[in-house]
Order: sequence, then structure tokens, then C-alpha cells
Amino acid sequence: MVMRSRVIGSGAYLPARVVTNAELSQRVETDDEWIRQRTGIRQRHIAAEGEFTSALGLKAAEAALGSAGVKADSLDLIVCATTTPDETFPATATRIQHKLGMRHGAAFDVQAVCSGFVYALAVADNFIRLGQAKRALVIGAETFSRILDWNDRTTCVLFGDGAGAVLLEGAPANGAASDRGVLSTHIYSDGEHHDALYVDGGPGSTRTTGVVHMEGREVFKHAVIKMAEAIDKALETNGLTPGDVDWMVPHQANLRIIEAMAKRLNLPMDQVIVTVDRHANTSAASIPLALNQGVTDGRIKQGDLLLLEAMGGGFTWGSALIRW
Ligand code: ACO
Repeated sequence: MVMRSRVIGSGAYLPARVVTNAELSQRVETDDEWIRQRTGIRQRHIAAEGEFTSALGLKAAEAALGSAGVKADSLDLIVCATTTPDETFPATATRIQHKLGMRHGAAFDVQAVCSGFVYALAVADNFIRLGQAKRALVIGAETFSRILDWNDRTTCVLFGDGAGAVLLEGAPANGAASDRGVLSTHIYSDGEHHDALYVDGGPGSTRTTGVVHMEGREVFKHAVIKMAEAIDKALETNGLTPGDVDWMVPHQANLRIIEAMAKRLNLPMDQVIVTVDRHANTSAASIPLALNQGVTDGRIKQGDLLLLEAMGGGFTWGSALIRW
């Protein structure tokens, strides 16, 4: 007998304002065709002035709680993955906790950039497995638009804002791959590749926020290799094969990377949840946004096997297998 973290709710939120590729091409030297061909992105949502990461995360959290019919006072834990916290401290998770009217348990942030949701899921799952939490909210929330140089066409066309959340609940299970819930999480990092993807500022160095810098080709190359390794590890750990996967729910950075991963698994693209065309790369929010999309449009059903994978700055990367 083991304790599994079952997903009992999900939710998402996107800011109202949509910025198309055509609109961006009025600001920097780019065009819709270049962006779509290289990335698959058509548009992104951008937070309004004064609309902070905690506000996005709160809306996703409320939607996840609402979908499960659960009140915040029954939560033990909130883990928020974000690279764009409202403030250097306190954690954005505590802002969300406060706005949910929750004054017990613990709330903290996890920082692993685009792998943040897989990291946060791993943390919450381990709390639940050990019996230290019964119900946990895992949120990915970003206002990435605030750390972009809007005059740098190599980065500003790639990202967007948004938030997603899942609600986990501990449930006893057999310890088999047929169990419902989080079957495994695998997280990794390697600081050697710092210079390929980083923000040139921070409270402890420049006292400023800084903006994103990325060597796109270098990131692309490592992303394919590293995520493939994490996926193999996830399947091997659970004695499963690619043929067992019902849905791939990848981090949404670039359609070409997503297609490469699906091809490697021999998974047709109609078994892959794709949102990068509408949301662009929302960093830690991209997987829970995609998850919620698949759930609300009826594609992801109870008992389905979901494969999550991500890679981000650090480098950080990881995978998770969830039976819905
Ligand atoms: N519009 C038009 N032209 C552009 C643009 C643009 N927005 N951006 C760059 N170019 C130009 C470049 O200047 C270059 O021109 P040159 O040949 O005259 O020098 C040319 O297009 C090709 O540039 P590349 O960078 O080689 O293009 P590439 O095919 O590699 O595509 C991209 C770039 C889309 C960034 C790709 O490398 C990629 O997606 N990489 C992975 C990014 C990723 O996955 N990030 C996830 C992690 S993000 C995180 O953790 C925060």
C-alpha cells in the first residue's frame, strides 16, 4: 500500500489582452511567418498594468478549487512555481494563500523557470506521499512579459503570461502503474549551461530585475536530449512503454521541440496537448494551462496516462507520469 497524489481539480487563467504576431511586428523587425514557422506561436496573452502574478495564480487556484468543489480551508499546502514573483519576498504563494483566506498550513514558491511546474508537482507529491500534507494546490503562474526586453526580437516574440493550477489529494493505492494519481516525478538540473538562458539581473547582484537572454539554438539542442532522457526514466521507473501513454502534456516552448519529442515516442500529434500557438511560452504556467485545456475540452479522461515533460533555465528539466 502506498499513498498517491490524485488530481481532483484543475484550473487556469489567461489575461484578457491578446497580442498577435502582427502587432509585435509593428514594434520589432519580425513577421508572423518567421514566428509561426520557427515556433508555432500565433499570439500570446499579456497581463494588464497592475495585474500581478499572484492575481493570475489566484484565479487559476480558485478555478481548480471550484472544479473539485473544495474550499481553501481544507488545504494543507500551496506550492507556486514562478520566475516572476510579485516581489523579491515574500513568496507569491503566500499572497495567493492570503487572498484565498487561508491562514493555516504552508505556502511557498519554487523557482525552476520553465520546469517549475514539474518541480512544484514533485515537491507537493513528496509531501503527500510522506503524509505531511493531505491536500495540496500546485500552481504555475507567470508574468514573463515583465522580464522581457521588448526591443529584442530574439526573445520577446516567444513568451506570454498566464497561470494554471492542479489540486492534489492523498489517496491510498496499490503502488502499481494502474493506480490513479502521480505515478512518478523526475527532476534534474545542471548549472553549467547558465549562459545559454538567464536573466541579467537580480536582487542579490544588480538590485534590478533584468531581462531574459537566450541562445535559442543551444537551448533547443539540449532540450531535446535532456527531456528525452527524463521521459525514458519516467517510463522505465513505472515499467511502462511509450505505447501506454494516452496524452503528452509538454512544456509549451516551441512546436518543433514538441513535435520532435512526440516523434521520438512514436506518438501521433493528436495525442499531444498543444497550446503554444495561442499562449506562447508561459514558463511555469504552460503545463498546467495545457492540462486544463485538455481536461475542459474533454480530451483528458479519468484513467488516462499523462506524460509531462519540461526544460528551462538553469538548465533544469524533468518529467512526470500521472494517471488521471
Ligand atoms: N523575427 C525575425 N528574425 C529573427 C527573429 C524574429 N523574431 N529572431 C531571430 N531572428 C533571426 C536571427 O537574427 C537570425 O538571423 P541571421 O541568420 O541573419 O543571424 C535568424 O533569424 C535565425 O536565428 P536563429 O536563432 O538561428 O533561429 P532558430 O531557428 O534557432 O529559432 C528559436 C530561434 C525559435 C528561439 C529556437 O532556437 C528555439 O525555439 N529555441 C528553444 C527555445 C526554448 O525552448 N526555450 C525554452 C526554455 S525558455 C525558459 O526556460 C525561460
